[in-house]
Amino acid sequence: MCGIIGYTGWRPAGPILIECLRRLEYRGYDSAGIALFDGRQELFHVRATGKLENLANRVEGQLPPAVAGIGHTRWATHGAPSDANAHPQLDPTGRVAVVHNGIVENFEALRRRFTDPAAPFTSETDTEVLAHLIAEALEDGADLADAVRGVTRETEGAYSLVAIARDDPGRLVAARVGNAGGIVIGHGDSEDGSRPEQFVCSDLAAILPLARYVTFLEPGELADVRADGVLLSDAAGRTIERAPELQPYDPVAAVKGRYKHFMLKEIHEQPDAALDAMRGRYLLDPPGVNLEGFFLDESRARALTRVVLVGMGSSLYAAMLGRHYIERFAHIPAEVDNASEFRYRRPVLDEHTLVISVGQSGETVDTLAAMEEARRAGCPQLTICNTPGSQASRVADGTVLMRVGPEIAVASTKCLIGAMIGLHATALQLGQLRGSLGGAVARSEVESALHLPAALGEALLLEEQVRDLAVRYAHFENFLFLGRGLSYPVALEGALKLKEVSYIHAEGYAAGEMKHGPIALIDEGMATVALAVRDEVREKMRSNIQQVKARRGPVLALASEGDSSLDGVADDVLAVPAFAGALAPAVTLVPLQLLAYYIALERGADVDQPRNLAKTVTVE
Ligand code: G6P
Repeated sequence: MCGIIGYTGWRPAGPILIECLRRLEYRGYDSAGIALFDGRQELFHVRATGKLENLANRVEGQLPPAVAGIGHTRWATHGAPSDANAHPQLDPTGRVAVVHNGIVENFEALRRRFTDPAAPFTSETDTEVLAHLIAEALEDGADLADAVRGVTRETEGAYSLVAIARDDPGRLVAARVGNAGGIVIGHGDSEDGSRPEQFVCSDLAAILPLARYVTFLEPGELADVRADGVLLSDAAGRTIERAPELQPYDPVAAVKGRYKHFMLKEIHEQPDAALDAMRGRYLLDPPGVNLEGFFLDESRARALTRVVLVGMGSSLYAAMLGRHYIERFAHIPAEVDNASEFRYRRPVLDEHTLVISVGQSGETVDTLAAMEEARRAGCPQLTICNTPGSQASRVADGTVLMRVGPEIAVASTKCLIGAMIGLHATALQLGQLRGSLGGAVARSEVESALHLPAALGEALLLEEQVRDLAVRYAHFENFLFLGRGLSYPVALEGALKLKEVSYIHAEGYAAGEMKHGPIALIDEGMATVALAVRDEVREKMRSNIQQVKARRGPVLALASEGDSSLDGVADDVLAVPAFAGALAPAVTLVPLQLLAYYIALERGADVDQPRNLAKTVTVE
């Protein structure tokens, strides 16, 4: 979860960048850095591995009087934490400096274009190629904004960047590519209103103390930022007029940003959350994962005979997906259980059974009790958890943190994505240790995982469509969610989200089970949401949809983009971005979360604090 800050104005930029980086440090503390071009066009470029304090100490008393610059806090994805991999990244001549958040998916291919041995790459990051490309365009006579726009067209992935150039001091160019890695621009001024200044940042909360009027960059947009104003343009270079918004500055509103509810904010954070969960763990060269400090060594991993996964609520559904991942990649028999059932059913356990608990809070009473049961039986234990220092991580032998940032809405959204990634990475790690993970499978899973933030961003673009559907489906009092295979836990989660926030009766079923009971309920008054994305069981789902239609049940189907085979079969078809790989359920989940949210809004429910529910259930 990288943090980005840029400043141009009338005050010395260095201390402002450091001040804002302090507010961004929660996003990453592998390394930090700043770059400033002063009036003499000298580059001041300092980076330091580790916490921000290391950078602050390194620049103390050294900061030049430059009035523009960029800064960054990093959480490593491509390349280990080191000074060389820290941002800002430069081109070989030091005329361009870039900070970046997100993934440039085709960076290896782009890097291969630069073969001059006199101008080598100095880092393993995907970011450095952006600096090379921008410098190359400037060399060819392009203006900085055009150079950045050209680069955004050549790259694939979802990310944001801010660039500065030696020959253009006082100017920052920011771009947002795809629907991940947000950028907000804060418009400030001196007290007498005579000296404007601009802040460019990944987080609203980090700049709100300095600027209350802000402009958010939308995907595909570019901002050409000078002290006295900002020029917005789209991917084609057309100017965009957008008046800045005044943001209230109270701590809760600052955290909620421009979203009406935390639930919606957290749904929108998912592309970044996925990135944060994967950062430094999914590696391309060689393809695989590296869960640093994974608590089992090779011989203990090979000795495992069984895996039991436990959790509650959404975390239980993540665990159900985890079972698929463990069996598929680590080839260990796996089972999943509701923690509150597991704790009382005297499970047969031994020291070769790995128990994996899943939980956002790490404090859910039944999950902790299940872990206690496992501890008594001497099982090795891993927890997939979002809360560092939680009880679950103190009890477990190993923890894989979800790293998706605090989740405030009671209905869990981004933590499920974090849990899925944590489980997927764990299964790949176990597969590597046990020698059961083939190179081709590892490559395709890692490549598709790295595409997940971009795919989640594309899924969020369905929001308008989902909102319209919500208006039409909000009057139903009964819903059936059907899925098979990897989509079955997604169906359960879709139903859970809907009942949690809108109080509508909703049930999730394995679609094959439909004929064993639920079909008796189907008529015009029971809406079915059918998950029929392209996978090995899609044809079966198609038959299930026809069976519902034959009984006059209204059907909203989720199909993969480009698949028209359900048109005319279901009443409504939502085209979900196509995604290959075991993390595909994460993409299907997004429209279901949005559907629950907008149906709840339609019905006037209290989305962030639904009645009777609690974020963390600490009593039986
Ligand atoms: C509550 C929350 C759910 C969550 C469940 C498990 O029911 O409302 O969103 O999935 O607890 O919590 P955990 O912290 O263990 O993931």
